[in-house]
Amino acid sequence: MTLDIGIIGCGVIADYHLRALAEQPECRVTACADVNSDSAQRCAAAFHVPRILADGHALLQLQDLDLVVICTPPKWHAELLLQALQLRKHVLVEKPLAMDLQQAQSLVTAAAKTDRIVGVALMHRYLPVYRAVHDFIQAGVLGTVRRVRLSLGRSMIGDSRFTTPQSDPRSWLVNRTIAGGGMLMSSSIHFFSVVSYLLGNRAALTVAGRVRQLHPIAFPGIEDDIDLVVRWDNNIEFTYRESWVADLPYRGQIDGDEGQLVLSAEGFTNLSLETECRNSNPHPYETLDWTRPVSNEQLQALIPQPSLFSGLWADLVKSIRQKSRVPRLPGLEHARNMQSIVTAACRTEVTRQLECVDWFPEKTVT
Ligand SMILES: NC(=O)c1ccc[n+]([C@@H]2O[C@H](COP(=O)([O-])OP(=O)(O)OC[C@H]3O[C@@H](n4cnc5c(N)ncnc54)[C@H](O)[C@@H]3O)[C@@H](O)[C@H]2O)c1
Repeated sequence: MTLDIGIIGCGVIADYHLRALAEQPECRVTACADVNSDSAQRCAAAFHVPRILADGHALLQLQDLDLVVICTPPKWHAELLLQALQLRKHVLVEKPLAMDLQQAQSLVTAAAKTDRIVGVALMHRYLPVYRAVHDFIQAGVLGTVRRVRLSLGRSMIGDSRFTTPQSDPRSWLVNRTIAGGGMLMSSSIHFFSVVSYLLGNRAALTVAGRVRQLHPIAFPGIEDDIDLVVRWDNNIEFTYRESWVADLPYRGQIDGDEGQLVLSAEGFTNLSLETECRNSNPHPYETLDWTRPVSNEQLQALIPQPSLFSGLWADLVKSIRQKSRVPRLPGLEHARNMQSIVTAACRTEVTRQLECVDWFPEKTVT
């Protein structure tokens, strides 16, 4: 049976979903809505969407839609998601789920009263290189994992959203009242999510470190540089550094007592993976030559539904078909917990103390 889908918010990220949906069997985008009619018309023309609505609330009233994709800026996620659930639609909502932890929790509570499937587009886990890291950890190739380190940074100081916000419609990104925060909400939340997934959705216990606003002119009132240590309930330490004011090479390292994985990247794409293992456990992806770094493209060739978006969509469609969320699909509890790490990170900057993460139970991902 075909799923009829509506898109709310026809900006940059909507195009990625629409391209992935064009490749999904049994999915058909039949309506799109945007408060900016030019954006809605562009999207409808580019992706052959037959109906255009003036806003998300009007689209949600269409009775023949099974699923809606919420791609507006964060300020509107909660109200659109709540209305969608009331109208018995399945939902994919973009990250961040909500403006703050309290709002995220209220969405978890509301969704628990319905039988609708909700996925959140925290989809880095579908990147082949992270899927490989996950499989290595699960196969026990590293022994017991002790530590995860990740560092990345891209100077955004010359970006037009910051240099000429009045003439860039996407400058909402640095407006706290629309985006809900700065770098933590926009970018870091993806990396909290992927590390949580790699570790089997263990609970984060505490956060300590610095959350700074280093560039008051380019980024007024939002965090743009962070240095954190997140501790998980199995005592794994995640050391995390991210910046919007400095270019830092992407580098990740996962240390176990029997081996190590190293992730590196040129620019922000082109991730590659190296491994050094000291045990004889069966090695996943054995057909590849691991004596040198293995690229995301090489791994992609071995994985079905290999892109970020097609992997997310495949799990969402499967969840709807089987009437229960595939554990790998990021759901509301997970997104709420990532919001909780953000909240604890912001608090630690104020108190300069270790802050506890308020964690809601999640299904374990295997
Ligand atoms: N998953 C990812 O990797 C990823 C990447 C980029 C953006 N995002 C998220 O996607 C969302 C949108 O980001 P974007 O980069 O596409 O932004 P964008 O500014 O390019 O597009 C947003 C669109 O929503 C429209 N809009 C605003 N309010 C609306 C409303 N109430 N009803 C209907 N339409 C409305 C705007 O007119 C605009 O066309 C954000 O939550 C962002 O954080 C996720």
